[in-house]
Amino acid sequence: MIARPFAELASVGTAVPPGVLTNHDLMRTLDTSDEWIVERTGIRERRIATPDQSVAMLSREASAVALERAGLTPADLDAIVLATASPDRLLPSTACDLQALLGAHNAAAFDLGAACPGYLFALTVAEGLIASGQSRTVLVVGAEKLSTITDFADRSTAILFGDGAGASVVRPSSQPGRGLLSTYIGSDGRLAPLLYRPGGGSSDPISEKVVCERSHYMKMAGREVFKAAVRAMAEACDEALTRAGVTADQIDLLVPHQANLRIIDATAKHAGIPMSKVMVNLDRYGNTSSASIPLALDQAVAEGRVGPGSLVLLVAFGAGFTWGSAVVRW
Ligand code: UT7
Repeated sequence: MIARPFAELASVGTAVPPGVLTNHDLMRTLDTSDEWIVERTGIRERRIATPDQSVAMLSREASAVALERAGLTPADLDAIVLATASPDRLLPSTACDLQALLGAHNAAAFDLGAACPGYLFALTVAEGLIASGQSRTVLVVGAEKLSTITDFADRSTAILFGDGAGASVVRPSSQPGRGLLSTYIGSDGRLAPLLYRPGGGSSDPISEKVVCERSHYMKMAGREVFKAAVRAMAEACDEALTRAGVTADQIDLLVPHQANLRIIDATAKHAGIPMSKVMVNLDRYGNTSSASIPLALDQAVAEGRVGPGSLVLLVAFGAGFTWGSAVVRW
């Protein structure tokens, strides 16, 4: 067995649509308040794409930045792994649309469905592709247009979600000790009905009934999901640290999935990491599912909170249930 790290994150790039939807905007149509949303979630505003801003187009914008920062062109890619819970179409994959938009003709492209930890699942797959010798240069993307699967008449979910995309170039580790020191992924499919889209798939295809029942939108049992997220993210932090052979006090920055500030607080507390070492930007973007970690990571790099040699802990939880974590030496 070869020793880790096999692979490193050469770059991260992101894109968000310019349209902003604030808590005050939501108060015009929903029985809610800015105070309630900020106190219970930490979210103040989120980005919403227009009908012509597709997941593939947001992904192309984020990917172009990630490629440029890595000093590569689309032709250098030999794989594209795109994590999304809101694909543009059910067939073919959004990854294939992205491949065509980029002109990444040498890449094998496919989507990955793992909801909010999708970017971490995709990193894990990219690491495996590289370790096996299948690929050398992999584009990992987490991209969502959750506004199209959110029920804006349901105040318990409408306040949470937003649109955006993040991409990273993953390649063989260029220096000893630099890259993915550990990855960890897990799932529990028994809990699927606590956060799901009941209609619109092949078990209940789109129909007048589905639309009338609004079952093509996300449904969530918020309190149950909250409790499970706190438990799973705590355990996932422990596991990634153990697998990397590092301790929490060595971590320079925790970059958690941006679903709820109270979940982030609980995760940091469990890991023993002070909030001064935790990246939070859900106030501006809400929960962007698989785009959430790259959006937070990119901002952390831009603000100088992550730089060469930084030790970063990534952790996420979402529908499935699914969870994942990773320790990265930047
Ligand atoms: O990314 C995937 C993972 N997703 C998550 O991690 C989300 C996890 N869940 C959560 O973040 C929280 O459960 C929510 C933010 C969704 C809800 O917060 P909560 O503190 O768990 O509230 P709750 O669902 O227990 O509801 C408390 C009260 C209820 O009223 P009653 O029954 O006590 O009278 C709700 O009807 O708050 C009410 N409520 C609202 N009030 C004002 C629910 N949504 C709203 C709202 N505005 N938007």
